[in-house]
Amino acid sequence: MNGASRPIAILGGTGPAGMGLALRWARAGEPIIIGSRDAQRAQDAADGIKEIIGDQARVSGMENSAACAAADLLVLTVPFEGQAALLKQLKPAIRPGSILIDTTVALAAGVGGRASRTLGVWQGSSAQQAAELVPKGVAVVAAFHNLSAELLNGDENLDCDVIVCSDDPNALQLTRGLAAKIPGVRAIDGGKLENARILEQITALLVGLNIRHKGHGGIRITGLPAEAYQ
Ligand SMILES: NC(=O)c1ccc[n+]([C@@H]2O[C@H](COP(=O)([O-])OP(=O)(O)OC[C@H]3O[C@@H](n4cnc5c(N)ncnc54)[C@H](OP(=O)(O)O)[C@@H]3O)[C@@H](O)[C@H]2O)c1
Repeated sequence: MNGASRPIAILGGTGPAGMGLALRWARAGEPIIIGSRDAQRAQDAADGIKEIIGDQARVSGMENSAACAAADLLVLTVPFEGQAALLKQLKPAIRPGSILIDTTVALAAGVGGRASRTLGVWQGSSAQQAAELVPKGVAVVAAFHNLSAELLNGDENLDCDVIVCSDDPNALQLTRGLAAKIPGVRAIDGGKLENARILEQITALLVGLNIRHKGHGGIRITGLPAEAYQ
């Protein structure tokens, strides 16, 4: 469990990134709510995960605001171009004290540019933009930007580290615990939320490498003391 058997609501969870995280956490026994703008699409996505894992998987589907009302551990997996509007719409539904884990990368592809380039975000990063838009008292964490959705949706162990950034130490540690439930992943404390801007840049680099070398690249950080990886 993620510490308190809290359901994890994945907002925009019907896309490859959200589905991949849902699949891995459902396999680890976590209760998952897939969120979507459309309740039926969310339910279909939840059914798809049960088809892969089996009926014992604790996965349901709900419209995004219903998912926020049902959980206080939220993961945001929408394209950057939809992030601000969705958070404004969901603001009344987000419960006080919630944790929002933002995976958004402001790729230029969203406005017709290259996927190997990022857009400038006034606040510094998508996660910092999210922090401005959530209700007061909601802790925002940046994580999972550098994991390939293609690999997450497979069966193999991942060979990747996840760098987790937040200004809230408890939310950061909880997210590290969630990341470590993905087989092969090590979760590293990456410091303050402002470092999310670097995580997003790394994604753009990885996209470029994937195009150049036709792969699904991830990152490993070496040379830290053993406790940094635990
Ligand atoms: N794909 C990857 O390998 C990867 C890796 C790391 C991080 N990321 C980041 O994770 C996020 C999601 O990636 P993805 O590839 O899964 O994206 P995606 O397939 O383009 O979108 C995910 C879901 O977001 C919802 N959505 C789309 N446009 C929206 C809008 N304007 N407003 C509200 N909801 C909207 C859709 O769900 P409904 O239609 O069901 O509402 C869609 O299924 C992105 O920010 C991406 O940069 C992706």
